[in-house]
Amino acid sequence: MGKKIFSGVQPTGNLHLGNYLGAIKNFVELNNVPTNECIFCVVDLHAITVKQDPKELKKNIRETVATFVASGIDPKKSIIFNQSGVAAHSEVAWILSCVARMGWLNRMTQFKEKAGKDKEKASIGLYSYPVLMAADILLYDATHVPVGDDQKQHLELCRDIAQKFNNDFGVEDFLKVPEPLIQKEFSRIMSLKDGSKKMSKSEISDLSRINLTDNEDQIINKIKKAKTDPLPMPKNIKDLEGRLEAQNLLGIFASLNNSTLESSTEKFAGKNFSEFKHELSELIVNKIIPISEEIKKLLNDYSHLDSILLDGVEKASKIASKKIKNIKEIVGF
Ligand code: AMP
Ligand code: TRP
Repeated sequence: MGKKIFSGVQPTGNLHLGNYLGAIKNFVELNNVPTNECIFCVVDLHAITVKQDPKELKKNIRETVATFVASGIDPKKSIIFNQSGVAAHSEVAWILSCVARMGWLNRMTQFKEKAGKDKEKASIGLYSYPVLMAADILLYDATHVPVGDDQKQHLELCRDIAQKFNNDFGVEDFLKVPEPLIQKEFSRIMSLKDGSKKMSKSEISDLSRINLTDNEDQIINKIKKAKTDPLPMPKNIKDLEGRLEAQNLLGIFASLNNSTLESSTEKFAGKNFSEFKHELSELIVNKIIPISEEIKKLLNDYSHLDSILLDGVEKASKIASKKIKNIKEIVGF
């Protein structure tokens, strides 16, 4: 049987190689399996849990759609839509927030990281963010959710919420408990400047990430400046231990090349970093520049991108409205 896939990406700009290798590349593979039904959501409601400039947000929503399409997701095969276009997401998030427990949310590490020291000043939306994410997934009876490693905890919460709802209302198997699809290797791409930090949109230094809109010179320059260590390239996987930057760069190489960390490490064993970096930039340029050029082309035609979203909203609404009708009935509305 085919899988029902749901995943989301926040339209907060600067989509980078981590988003691509951790999530979007998988979306494309799942989209290409004929029996899968895939829904890819531009989660604009999640984006506003931290302050956004409205003009930038509008631009970033279109840029995210362009990135999906440029990477190879076919809007005729998969549904691509923006979350705020389907009101059921917000409604179901409210209902589920009455099922989820404070104690569960208090454990979420992403909130702790994003809220920082001054939790009192974080928005309530940032705190209840994972409940909205659960609503996204459960509205569509998704069986599988492809995400990067950082979303694992949110998915576990989603599973707990689904089970509690089913138990509380005595409706076994009504909300489908989804499986995470997280790659074993390369599910966490790290910063080019610090191998212990995740590559992130919000990192101030642009040198820390390869953006999917970077040009060839920018890519070459960023890889040249990427942090390494003074030793020659590791001889084998064991030799990689504790060498976070080498591990990350070799991981990027392996993932883009669809090979393993082991074989990539062997390929460059004992060589200089500069030689490896030369091949790595070449590989990134070959894989990313066609996507970046396609994104730019698509961004010249806003009406085409908007029509993809409108079409997606229509299709998603059809599915969501059936599910929310049943949810309301079960709750007693
Ligand atoms: P976001 O940009 O936070 O909406 O993330 C979109 C998707 O990219 C999610 O599935 C994340 O888990 C994934 N992702 C974000 N950053 C990274 C990273 N550095 N490495 C791997 N996956 C990532
Ligand atoms: N929270 C996810 C992230 O930041 C994005 C997201 C929102 C999502 N809703 C989702 C991912 C539903 C998978 C399924 O990456």
